[in-house]
Amino acid sequence: KPIRLVDYRPPDWLVDTVDLDIGLHPTATVIRARLGMRPNPAGREGAPIVLDGDELVLKSLALDGETLAGNAYSVTPSSLTLLAPPQRALTLEIETLLDPSANTKLMGLYRSSGTYCTQCEAEGFRRITYFPDRPDVLAVYTTRIEAEREEAPVLLGNGNKVEEGELPGTTRHFAVWHDPWPKPCYLFALVGGRLDRVGDRFVTATGRDVELGIYVEPGKAARAGYAMDALKRSMRWDEEAFGCEYDLDVFNIVAVADFNMGAMENKGLNIFNDKYVLASPETATDNDYASIEGIIAHEYFHNWTGNRITCRDWFQLCLKEGLTVFRDQEFSADQRSRPVKRIIDVRLLKAYQFTEDAGPLAHPVRPATYREINNFYTATVYEKGAEVVRMLKTLLGSEGFRNGMDLYFERHDGQAATIEDFLACFADATGTDLAQFALWYAQSGTPQLAITGEWNPAERSYRLDVEQSVPPTPGQPDKQPMVIPLALGLVGPSGEDLPLTLADGTSPAGGVLTVDAPRHSFVFRDVAERPVPSLNRGFAAPVRLASNLSSDDLVFLARHDRDPFNRFEAVQTLALGYLIEATQAVRSGRNLPEPAALIAAMGASLADPALDPAFVGQVLTVPSESDIAREIGRDVDPDAVYAARATLRRAVGTALAEPLAGAFERFAAPGPYSPDAASAGRRTLRNTCLSLLAEAGAGEGVARALGLYRAADNMTDRLQSLMTLCHHAPGQRAEVLADFYERFRDDPLVLDKWFGIQSQIPEPGTLDRVRELTGHPAFSLRNPNRVRALIGSFATGNPTQFNRADGAGYDFLADTVLGLDGSNPQLAARLLGALKSWRVLEEGRRGKAEAALRRIAGTAGLSPDVSDIVTRSLA
Ligand code: ARG
Ligand code: ZN
Repeated sequence: KPIRLVDYRPPDWLVDTVDLDIGLHPTATVIRARLGMRPNPAGREGAPIVLDGDELVLKSLALDGETLAGNAYSVTPSSLTLLAPPQRALTLEIETLLDPSANTKLMGLYRSSGTYCTQCEAEGFRRITYFPDRPDVLAVYTTRIEAEREEAPVLLGNGNKVEEGELPGTTRHFAVWHDPWPKPCYLFALVGGRLDRVGDRFVTATGRDVELGIYVEPGKAARAGYAMDALKRSMRWDEEAFGCEYDLDVFNIVAVADFNMGAMENKGLNIFNDKYVLASPETATDNDYASIEGIIAHEYFHNWTGNRITCRDWFQLCLKEGLTVFRDQEFSADQRSRPVKRIIDVRLLKAYQFTEDAGPLAHPVRPATYREINNFYTATVYEKGAEVVRMLKTLLGSEGFRNGMDLYFERHDGQAATIEDFLACFADATGTDLAQFALWYAQSGTPQLAITGEWNPAERSYRLDVEQSVPPTPGQPDKQPMVIPLALGLVGPSGEDLPLTLADGTSPAGGVLTVDAPRHSFVFRDVAERPVPSLNRGFAAPVRLASNLSSDDLVFLARHDRDPFNRFEAVQTLALGYLIEATQAVRSGRNLPEPAALIAAMGASLADPALDPAFVGQVLTVPSESDIAREIGRDVDPDAVYAARATLRRAVGTALAEPLAGAFERFAAPGPYSPDAASAGRRTLRNTCLSLLAEAGAGEGVARALGLYRAADNMTDRLQSLMTLCHHAPGQRAEVLADFYERFRDDPLVLDKWFGIQSQIPEPGTLDRVRELTGHPAFSLRNPNRVRALIGSFATGNPTQFNRADGAGYDFLADTVLGLDGSNPQLAARLLGALKSWRVLEEGRRGKAEAALRRIAGTAGLSPDVSDIVTRSLA
């Protein structure tokens, strides 16, 4: 039943052209598809034509214009087979009938708030028409869309619009779109609806004039300005950084309210979850603005990495996703603060990917097998996939990397490629053997580096003993050594980097050592004074690091390292060390240790006027409860973790009350709201200060939060102060929540925030509150954003209450997953992912979580999506 990478075979039949004629209707949409097909010379001779379907109703079928006799084919809702087709080029005409209003899975053609839209990746096109639904079948599409003019004045398709008009004597109209670039069917899209348009133009490097359009719900055009600006900056950046130019005369983006994921890179017609398009200062936070910028860029960048060069099969998903995430991260780093962007990305990597890699759902960046591809749009494929590309760049250098990319575009344009193809470009462009490096795509689990440094004053040398290991993961008990770029510096007592000279007189290029064996000893010579090693600078390798650095060494790095990432990381390492010890102390009723060194390091950051406020805000943000749980790794008691973390935050807030309050005052914005990175960074710092003060009951934190809430001219301050009040001022909570609701009750995206804040309050009453909110008139299981806001953020953002000792949190999640599975299995499976770390819990909770999983597993009629997650979670 599982699909395996080793079983790949080229398609037997190819499709060169697809002509679609689509008659939109809310419940009876007619799809006429004309497929120009021919036998694949690389396929099996004499093979039948086997087309995929999913819940399809066939109305008619013709071959070269002749209706097919019933015995010439066999058909079910999920496939259509022509048993003995003539072995030559032929035309198939297929008519299917769909009900877009009943399509609650949000895959294929569906309606979102009355707008017709599509989502075809990964396997949604087969819900529109019978087709060889695999990414290595590339065709040229022409799409005619017809609809009621009243219902859908806007009709959009892939490529360029070539015709439009009225149907005389009727209330209907049509548009014809042609996309000259051959593409796989997962990149097909259409939209029909009553939408407002924001328009702009972009002239490409070689002078192509591109018409840009962003389509949004009527009345929301003013909120699309930032997305449009981000789009134009993305288009320019891709020309400059990668030599990638846009290739059509039109580029459209449509924002819809009901969407399973973030957004989709359909050729010339990106479709977005409106959360990642719509922004105004009053309704969107700084983080929302940053996400919009990043996702607009991400989808746009897919035009080359994903669309012009696509994937041979879904095992190669990281070929487009890892690479495109890397590209959007680099874009945002160039637009904002590079060090802060790296810190944020690494935080997310550890939170999601390291956690995934340490649990039962761990899988390689390129999986070797899957049952349900939708469950592989994961942090590992995306984020670890991006880290692997980043390591390639670190190992090959900027120039080598760019040469490899250039070769990739040149060699594979118009093709459906593999990871082997991709790596071969870098190997060929730089003359590097990447065979061992390729293990990053095949071995799951986070590699560990254990590093011991020792200074030898007599020999004036410094020795680093490096040991690597990769932990066992599902299906992979034994691992081979990886190629790990170890970026490092030796920081001398004055805070300057010492020259890195190895015993043989050479210097590691770019300060990067290559670790490719289980064990290495690197000896640096001419080291006259004891240095502190700064290891894995910039988090160049996505690994766990254990070293013999003392807390004094970490405090030193926090002050002096010229690598900003490691200055930050030094404080995080100190904090984690403290938090793990403190958690044990809480559990055994011992006195908690003193976090003096840590507080001093944080205080020094806060007092350093040379530092970017956004950076200081990151330094003052202590590791999350789930970070702590992951690092503890076994027998975790979430209540003890919470207590330890709260104690630390109170200690910081108390000890640094004065400078925290001072920073809060000092960094107040002088003028009206601006979403730029520097202003956003000041708000991050101020709100971090406020939250520490409020937790400590110091520095008038609560009063300041209340003042900020009332005076806020932007959603960042309003939401952050609301959260601080909800967590630390229970007396004020009801009033501010009611105020917030009244202000924003008609704004779905803001209402999501209101639901989310309440579900994350770390108090015993929260589960009841969440249950009650599922009955709120504004709650609906049909809107994925709403479900994620209330239930997703409860399960992933409220560790003590989700992991209640009585198991009620798990039961609630299980009930929700089962209730949702029939209507939207993808969403149900995503929610269930919240239970993936159940094995690290202490015995009591572990038993309760397992029981909830077993109850799901024992339910009849599960979707493949949920069944796959629950089976792997329990394995
Ligand atoms: N390719 C999209 C992106 O990352 C994600 C689409 C995933 N959709 C899905 N149903 N699995 O940009
Ligand atoms: Zn993507």
